[in-house]
Amino acid sequence: MLTVAVLISGTGSNLRALLDEAADPDFPARVVAVGADREAPGFAHAEAYGIPTFFVPWVQFDSREAWGRELGEQLKVWQPDLVVLSGLMRLLPSSLVDEWSPRIINTHPAYLPEFPGAHGVRDALAAEVSQTGASVIVVDNGVDSGPILAQERVPVLRGDDEHALHERIKPVERRLLIDVVRRVATGDLDLATASTNHS
Ligand code: GAR
Repeated sequence: MLTVAVLISGTGSNLRALLDEAADPDFPARVVAVGADREAPGFAHAEAYGIPTFFVPWVQFDSREAWGRELGEQLKVWQPDLVVLSGLMRLLPSSLVDEWSPRIINTHPAYLPEFPGAHGVRDALAAEVSQTGASVIVVDNGVDSGPILAQERVPVLRGDDEHALHERIKPVERRLLIDVVRRVATGDLDLATASTNHS
């Protein structure tokens, strides 16, 4: 059974989908802890499933390194096989990425390498593209630049605002994330190989 820690910053709807899936005894992964950089509303989903939460408040640290060190300490408590960034809106320090690589993955609401960063949906709308997408990647030391594990296109519709488009992207993200976690758990997807093959 693959053990997973999920890191969030917000509402945690993708986390919720993973928790719902992992409640199925046939799903080959379990969420063992949920962490955040703030008191995230998404903690409620973890609490509903009786899953431990921890938060490492970004505002209480004077550097990304110091924050990341504490986050790393918290992760070590749970010893997850995989760390999923599901809406964590902070870049991890390279020391933490290097320590966990390639066992950290991230979901992103755009078809990478298009529109990386904190505003993937807004940037796609501003660029007036007719389609954007969702991606799941291995985290590396760039901004959403790691090896792509899964991605799918999502159309931009006339009249879309950021919220409407994001809400249409999220179900696709959820499906991709759950599929990637399942494939990692079953051994169908080897993160080390996926990372090595990335050019
Ligand atoms: C998701 O769309 C996720 O991809 C995005 O934040 C949202 C979190 O939603 N992450 C990023 O944009 C990271 N660059 P949720 O809290 O409802 O799951």
